[in-house]
Amino acid sequence: MEELLEKIHQLKQHYKAVILAHYYQDPAIQDLADFVGDSLDLSRKARDSDAEVIVFAGVHFMAETAKILNPSKKVLLPDLDAGCSLADSCTGKAFKEWKMQYPDHISVTYINCSAEVKAESDWVCTSANALKVIQAIPEDKQILFAPDKNLGNYLIKETGRNMVLWNGECMVHKAFSMEKLMKLWQQYPAARLIAHPESEDHVIRVAEFIGSTSALLNYVQDSDKDTFIVATEHGILHEMQRRAPEKLQIPAPSKDNNSCACSECAFMKMNTMEKIYECLLHGKPEIQLDESLMKSALRPIERMLSLD
Ligand code: 13P
Ligand code: SF4
Repeated sequence: MEELLEKIHQLKQHYKAVILAHYYQDPAIQDLADFVGDSLDLSRKARDSDAEVIVFAGVHFMAETAKILNPSKKVLLPDLDAGCSLADSCTGKAFKEWKMQYPDHISVTYINCSAEVKAESDWVCTSANALKVIQAIPEDKQILFAPDKNLGNYLIKETGRNMVLWNGECMVHKAFSMEKLMKLWQQYPAARLIAHPESEDHVIRVAEFIGSTSALLNYVQDSDKDTFIVATEHGILHEMQRRAPEKLQIPAPSKDNNSCACSECAFMKMNTMEKIYECLLHGKPEIQLDESLMKSALRPIERMLSLD
């Protein structure tokens, strides 16, 4: 491992590359990265980066967003198959046809979607700024929201806005088991449940705090409580434990009986140290997008970033 790390560092220097990683990546990848963040932070970092090569340790839509923000830079994704169930639920063609049924609506798409869908959208949002984006849309406008129905329902509840929702879900955040969660709560009655807004409504309703991965991390760090059940992908616990080592953080149990009995994003976990090394060495797999598609997809992303 030490040898591999050293080789990655040398290649990074040689190619003037930066490694950006999401909080759901394996701990070793988070430790290796130059920057770890949520989708919004990672978009900002990609926008502001002066590196010649961006290695994206995340999933396809994140690397695509980095490319759209940096069309002249080389953006590498260690495994091009690292997709997302939300992004896969909504093709550009289907989204366009759906939108045509609501010609007077403003379309807001969650960043977890393809460049084709972004190109057809009025706004893009992430879980960290979705409320802000919805609130920036005039009250008299009706809203179309895609592709995450759980985040959409949460936004309807929080803002009271009338929104038509695409029927997509994150396969990781829909996998929490209420039955196992209740049993866990009996074991730890003082534990606070915190959840990502991609979680289903029955989880959101009993959570004490709902937020993006960054917001969940800040909440645990700043809270005066000492035990948390964390309803999101369990990779986040690496950073959470680093920031609040004295607090007990328990991953919310999943319906699946996988090895960790918690929710794991198989797409995020497709990235490995070996693949990061290989992609730096060979300069591929690279994200390549059509120029005019990038231009159209940039507009709603820039609109979102202008709210900063
Ligand atoms: P965040 O933007 O909150 O990090 O979420 C990204 C994601 O894919 C959640 O499943
Ligand atoms: Fe997509 Fe869910 Fe994985 Fe996030 S956790 S990348 S929303 S499949």
